[in-house]
Amino acid sequence: MRILVTGAGGQLGRDLTVALAGGVPPGGLEGSPATGRLGDRAPVEVIGADHRRLDVTDRTAVLCATDELRPTVVVHAGAWTAVDACEADPDRAFATNAVGTRHVAEAARRVGAHVVYVSTDYVFDGTAPRPYVEWDPPCPVSVYGRSKWGGEQELGPDATIVRTSWVSGAGGANMVATVLRLADAPGPLRFVDDQRGSPTFTADLAGALCMLATERLPGIFHVTNQGTATWFDVATAVLACAGHDPARVEPIATADLVPARPAPRPANSVLDNAALRLAGMALLPDWHEALGRLVSVLAPAAMR
Ligand SMILES: NC(=O)c1ccc[n+]([C@@H]2O[C@H](COP(=O)([O-])OP(=O)(O)OC[C@H]3O[C@@H](n4cnc5c(N)ncnc54)[C@H](OP(=O)(O)O)[C@@H]3O)[C@@H](O)[C@H]2O)c1
Repeated sequence: MRILVTGAGGQLGRDLTVALAGGVPPGGLEGSPATGRLGDRAPVEVIGADHRRLDVTDRTAVLCATDELRPTVVVHAGAWTAVDACEADPDRAFATNAVGTRHVAEAARRVGAHVVYVSTDYVFDGTAPRPYVEWDPPCPVSVYGRSKWGGEQELGPDATIVRTSWVSGAGGANMVATVLRLADAPGPLRFVDDQRGSPTFTADLAGALCMLATERLPGIFHVTNQGTATWFDVATAVLACAGHDPARVEPIATADLVPARPAPRPANSVLDNAALRLAGMALLPDWHEALGRLVSVLAPAAMR
C-alpha cells in the first residue's frame, strides 16, 4: 500500500508520516490499535509531500503527482490553518482549503485512490448544548470553518472525513508550545474560559488516522482525545505538568481578549466520537494523559 500525505511538513503531517511508516511519533504510545504502532498490517510506503513539494492549489501539480506516484490512499492534511488570518483573506482560505481539496479529490479519482481528509470542529457554530455528532449539520461561523466545510463537500461518499479539534503536537506552533514559552515570563497568563473543546494530540491522532487510512473506512469520523476543556483549563494543565504554578493562569471571557480575535470561535466545539464509539472501535486516551506525554517531550526544550 502506498500512501501520499499532503501537508506533511505540518504538526500533524510530521507525526502521521512517522506513524504510517510504522514508527511511534514523539509522545506517542506503542501498541494500542488507535494510538500506537499497528503491528500486523501490510507494509506501507509513505510519501510525505510538504507544501513546497506539493501545493494543492496547483491543479496540474496535484494531478501530475498522483499520476506519477499512483498512491492507494491520499491523506490530505495540508490546509491554511491560520484561523484569524483567513478572515482577512477568504480567497486564499477557499483556494487552499476548498479548491485544493477539489484538486486532491479529482486526482485521487483518476488513479482510484482513497481520500482521507482532515477537517475541523470549526465546521460547527458551537450553539448546541451537547457534543456534536457526525450527523449534525455544519454551520461554520468563520472563514476558516467555511473553507474547510467547502473542502468536505468536494469529496464523494466513499472518502473518509476525519474531524478533529484543538490540535497540538511536538512539531508545531500550538497552545501547549505557547504556554510553555510564556511560562518563564513574569506576570499572569490570561486564557479564555468560555470556549469548550477537546484538546487533541497529533501523536495519538496519527495512530487513528493510520487505522482509518489503511482500512479505507468511508464516512465522517470525529476523532479527538477524550474529555473536554476550556483554553483556561489547558493552560492550567500545561503549567502544572511542566512544574510551574498553575494559579498564574487567569480565566477571561472571549469578549475581554485584547486585541479581539478577528475570527469568531464556537463556544462549544466538543466532538462526540460517535462513529468510532458506536462501531466499537478504540477511542483516543483522555487529553490530560496525552498532554503529559507531549509536555515531557517539549518541556526540556522549553526550559532551556
Ligand atoms: N491545528 C488545529 O487545531 C486543527 C484543528 C482541527 C483540524 N485541523 C486540521 O488538521 C490538519 C493539519 O493541521 P495542523 O494542525 O498540522 O496544521 P499545520 O501545522 O498548519 O499544517 C498544515 C500544513 O499544510 C501546509 N499547507 C498550507 N497551504 C498548503 C497548500 N496550498 N498546499 C499544500 N500544503 C499546504 C502548511 O505548510 P506551510 O506552513 O509551509 O504553508 C502546513 O505544513 C489541517 O487540515 C487542519 O485544517 C487542525
